Amino acid sequence: MVKPDAFPHLGKILNAIYESGFRVNNMRACHLSLQEAEEFYAVHAGKPFYEKLTKFMSSGRICALELVAPGAITKWRSLIGPTDSNKARTEAPNSIRAHFGTDGSFNAVHGSDAPDTAAAEISFFFSNPSLGKCDVSRGTTLGVIKPHAVGDGVAGLILDVISERFEVTALRQLAFDRASGSEFLEVYKGVLAMGEFAASVDEIIAGPCIAVELRSKDNSDSVESFRQLCGPMDSELARVLRPASLRAKFGLNKIRNAIHCTDLPEDGGLEVEYVFSILV
Ligand code: CMP
Repeated sequence: MVKPDAFPHLGKILNAIYESGFRVNNMRACHLSLQEAEEFYAVHAGKPFYEKLTKFMSSGRICALELVAPGAITKWRSLIGPTDSNKARTEAPNSIRAHFGTDGSFNAVHGSDAPDTAAAEISFFFSNPSLGKCDVSRGTTLGVIKPHAVGDGVAGLILDVISERFEVTALRQLAFDRASGSEFLEVYKGVLAMGEFAASVDEIIAGPCIAVELRSKDNSDSVESFRQLCGPMDSELARVLRPASLRAKFGLNKIRNAIHCTDLPEDGGLEVEYVFSILV
């Protein structure tokens, strides 16, 4: 779990996760209430740091990840380093806590300590859709990192670029099926050539996507600002016209163009609602 203090660095942490060879089976950002944080850390109830810990864990958004790898529990604990971030800086300087943690309390990330706690913690976050609901749906826009980019392991890099200018107000890894993928892309049916529409649907349903709800940090219109960051729909064209855009950097062509963004200002809230309330 990425804790509130490290949530702004989620892109970098996700990139470290992919680079270490983990598969991300499930991922969601949410904002735990104090009661939910107390429930998650019930095992520490009564300890002197419990109140500080639960207050911290309910102070902002967190991101829960279900990570898969041989020896995943040990592998993740080794990647994050010792609980105390100061100790991490001396004993494991390349660890996540060394980079992003502050001390023994504000320590950037959590890791399950055994198979049974891992199972319980995964179930805590992924069996209860109403837990820590955090999409805000006002003044926001939707981005969907496409399956080819997720599969290529560049979603962390994409998220890192996005986070420079946008606050991630909700995030969820999800898979579209053919019906929901066609419905989601319906507005492009008359705009794209018939073969391109079918290919776009094939791409969006090809594997897990990462959906993000975004709000611009500089009070500009979120939909328009994010469209600018994404660049022209065709990545080959984007590399010529807008080389710094996400589609230029991470896309391959017009269909595998790294990221979907909401196109019309009035659709920002609707697309967020569709993905985070209806689909999920
Ligand atoms: P985590 O790996 O999430 O497991 C329990 C958390 O409690 C731990 O990371 C720290 O954030 C916090 N914690 C553990 N020990 C202490 C301590 N001695 N003082 C303050 N916080 C602690």
